[in-house]
Amino acid sequence: MTAAMREAGEVWPGTGASVLYLPVEGQVPGGALSDRESAVYAAFRLEKRRREWLAGRLAAKALLSADGPAPAACDIGMDKFGRPCCGQALVSISHSNGWALAAVKPGSQFLGADLEKIEERHPAWYSDYFHPAELASRDPSEATRLWTVKEALLKALGLGLMADPLDIRTGERVMLSGKALERYREMGSPRYSVETRNYPAGFWTAVAA
Ligand SMILES: CC(C)(COP(=O)(O)OP(=O)(O)OC[C@H]1O[C@@H](n2cnc3c(N)ncnc32)[C@H](O)[C@@H]1OP(=O)(O)O)[C@@H](O)C(=O)NCCC(=O)NCCS
Repeated sequence: MTAAMREAGEVWPGTGASVLYLPVEGQVPGGALSDRESAVYAAFRLEKRRREWLAGRLAAKALLSADGPAPAACDIGMDKFGRPCCGQALVSISHSNGWALAAVKPGSQFLGADLEKIEERHPAWYSDYFHPAELASRDPSEATRLWTVKEALLKALGLGLMADPLDIRTGERVMLSGKALERYREMGSPRYSVETRNYPAGFWTAVAA
């Protein structure tokens, strides 16, 4: 196990979730994966995808095993909404441009995290995914921050991009509509917070929990 795997991550005070970043590398530390996960790992055809999947899992396992269970015992599967989990414990995973991150929050059944590199986008991206009132200008950094908020919430809702990002309207208060609102109600309308950080340099991260 690497030193990074033994780190417990940092608790983000705005959400109470523990968050851990790992660089996407590629070696599987001994004892890190369950037999089922080793088979999934071996089946990826694209090296980039394999490495990202692994780094996200190693980050999640480092957080989950901080309380005791061995990493291989934290078999990360999916709950009924497609959200990654280890038994009853939800985790959220994201990867972007060489970084992977995982977030956990013991006892929480509403958890999503997203990591996104700040970059210039096609003009259609701004108009297709944001309500005009969400963006004062087409500033790539602020738009990326708001995008991570949308994706973190869509992951917490177990929808990902099966829902329209316009169903999440960012602002002083987040407003949900359409499939996102339907799923939120189905989940019992839990209270949540969203926290964003301009981290690592050149990226935005959002956690909803
Ligand atoms: C969830 C989703 C928005 C993430 O997209 P992304 O920004 O490209 O990728 P990120 O790196 O931020 O996040 C990927 C992680 O989201 C997680 N994820 C996937 N589906 C999820 C869901 N329904 N709910 C919560 N988290 C989910 C996974 O852990 C995934 O990483 P992993 O496959 O390595 O474990 C996108 O994958 C999606 O819309 N999925 C739902 C639709 C779907 O399953 N389509 C089939 C694709 S073949």
